[in-house]
Amino acid sequence: MQMMGRDSIAILPTASVAIRNRDVEYPFRPESDFYSLTGFEEPAAVAVLVPGRGGGEFILFCRERDTKMELWTGPRHGPEGARAHFGADESYPIDAIDDILPGLLENRAKVYYTMGSNPDFDPRITDWLKAIRRKSRAGVHSPDEIVSLEHLLHEMRLFKSPGEVATMRRAAEISAAAHCRAMRACRPGMPEYQLEAELSHEFIQRGVRSHAYPPIIGGGANACVLHYIDNDAVLADGDLVLIDAGAEYRGYAADITRTFPVNGRFSPAQRAVYEVVLAAQYAAIAKVRPGNHWNDPHDAAVRALTQGLVRIGLLKGDVRTLIRTRAYQRFFMHRTGHWLGMDVHDVGDYKIGDSWRLLEPGMVLTVEPGLYSPAGSKGVAKKWWNIGVRIEDDVLVTRAGNEVLTHGVPKTVDEIEALMAA
Ligand code: GLY
Ligand code: MN
Ligand code: MN
Repeated sequence: MQMMGRDSIAILPTASVAIRNRDVEYPFRPESDFYSLTGFEEPAAVAVLVPGRGGGEFILFCRERDTKMELWTGPRHGPEGARAHFGADESYPIDAIDDILPGLLENRAKVYYTMGSNPDFDPRITDWLKAIRRKSRAGVHSPDEIVSLEHLLHEMRLFKSPGEVATMRRAAEISAAAHCRAMRACRPGMPEYQLEAELSHEFIQRGVRSHAYPPIIGGGANACVLHYIDNDAVLADGDLVLIDAGAEYRGYAADITRTFPVNGRFSPAQRAVYEVVLAAQYAAIAKVRPGNHWNDPHDAAVRALTQGLVRIGLLKGDVRTLIRTRAYQRFFMHRTGHWLGMDVHDVGDYKIGDSWRLLEPGMVLTVEPGLYSPAGSKGVAKKWWNIGVRIEDDVLVTRAGNEVLTHGVPKTVDEIEALMAA
């Protein structure tokens, strides 16, 4: 509210309940901006911030308590609970919002609301503004500016508090345990979805009911499809399998990728590619420290990948030229990471103006270089076909450098082979 200024008001709706089919709903998950400010997990809620307002600056609209409905769908906090447990100064039934909100807009110059991100809610903002404009002849000033809250709030969300870091550490720990379980369970002949079952089993055992994003479990050729989520092919002896999966724990995501041999032993070609990606990942992680900029880890990964591709013979030529001409993009076509937090691809600017932003303590990012060599690639010897490798960890920027939150799942060849043999 200090950043917003005293002549303003912010309006943040949570997500709407989404219908899966007919009368079946998707599990509800609050909208991340709303959730980050309120911690409130029920649907049909709107948070309103009115800096400097005498009667109260934080107003939460939510569903009323309803004995009959609560019998079916469980307890609700209600407006009383919103005040008692969520720090609201005032709270009202969500059904009263049309009556109350225009009054809160009176004599505020600026409305913080992100137009376009919630098409169901946008027209309601317009209606409230219309309602207040109708009172202009009575001397009421209506807001003349609608601006996105994102510039302020997303900058706050980018820096994780010690409490948030502890939660993310736990999300990472649970996800690492799930990856270990999948590695141990993997056998040739299994369908990919049985590894998904191992991951989900470990999550739910530990109280996590949701993946942070649809898990990718791709064996052989499927490891080269970046967003593969069918997870229904049979894992073949002699192939690699790539698992990209993470838990959502108390609203925070983990995002881990590991790649390992279905039969527990890397072939020489698989091992060669794997070692290149691993070296690139270490090189990138070493660049995660305060004072370096966002793209330093990516540049380090590109350099190490290109050097490695030349060393094993997948690229030929001068490393500097191959980097300049982006020859590596044939095998590495995505970026090395993204911010991580409540959203898996979390909010926060990557550039300030035209320059990459500097890394600062409290930021969390992924480091996830990969190499992908699908079958039939022109000029690529057959021994490299259907090898897709990505290694992804979640890294916190600390004052001293960094902390790898997802260290609990092995990634060296020897460690992986040992875990799978055990
Ligand atoms: N799992 C999504 C990503 O790695 O970016
Ligand atoms: Mn990622
Ligand atoms: Mn991932």
